[in-house]
Amino acid sequence: MYTGLQHSHSGLAYLALLALILVIVWALIGSLSGREFQEKDRKIALVGLILSHLQLLIGLILYFVSQKGFSLLTGGGAMADEDARLTALEHPLINIVAIALITIGYSRAKRLETSKGKFRSIYMLYAIGLVLILSRIPWQNWLPQ
Ligand code: HEM
Ligand code: HEM
Repeated sequence: MYTGLQHSHSGLAYLALLALILVIVWALIGSLSGREFQEKDRKIALVGLILSHLQLLIGLILYFVSQKGFSLLTGGGAMADEDARLTALEHPLINIVAIALITIGYSRAKRLETSKGKFRSIYMLYAIGLVLILSRIPWQNWLPQ
């Protein structure tokens, strides 16, 4: 089960990050062009939301299955080790906050009245979320050496 989850989380990360970048660029162009926010724009933002939520769900399970997750916190010494602190604490915590912000960006866009406000809610909160996610990726584990 661990290998499957780890590979899914690792592979989906490419798709989720790519989707977030595309949604931000799309909403930014929409806002700058001054056009009407349409159902198509909501659906594009929804793709980024769903991929982030899927990553959240797999990440949460992985956290309790992996040797690099919760188990490190109970072993002691994890706080002094940079790599251990990243996957056992910083990456999960910051990414939960980031995905919460992305979800707020999407939900607010549905509630807001003006097209400009809807586009802005998406590109602002998705972008803050993306920066947070990128700040805490375990790059050394992930990218091919
Ligand atoms: C730990 C797991 C998850 C949590 C805590 C979570 C949390 C949430 C929350 C709080 C919302 C409400 C947003 C709003 O205010 O409208 C939401 C919406 C949504 N989530 Fe998740 N989610 C999780 C997993 C998933 C998964 C696995 C998927 C799909 C693969 C998913 C797809 C969606 C969709 C489609 C919406 C609704 C979008 C809409 O309102 O149009 N979520 N989720
Ligand atoms: C969009 C959000 C997220 C992205 C893009 C992401 C991306 C990644 C990447 C690229 C790795 C390294 C994979 C590898 O070594 O091949 C990783 C590892 C990990 N992630 Fe996430 N992640 C996200 C959210 C989360 C969340 C919310 C949690 C937990 C609550 C989580 C828990 C973990 C754990 C425990 C590992 C280490 C797994 C292991 O190698 O044994 N992730 N994540």
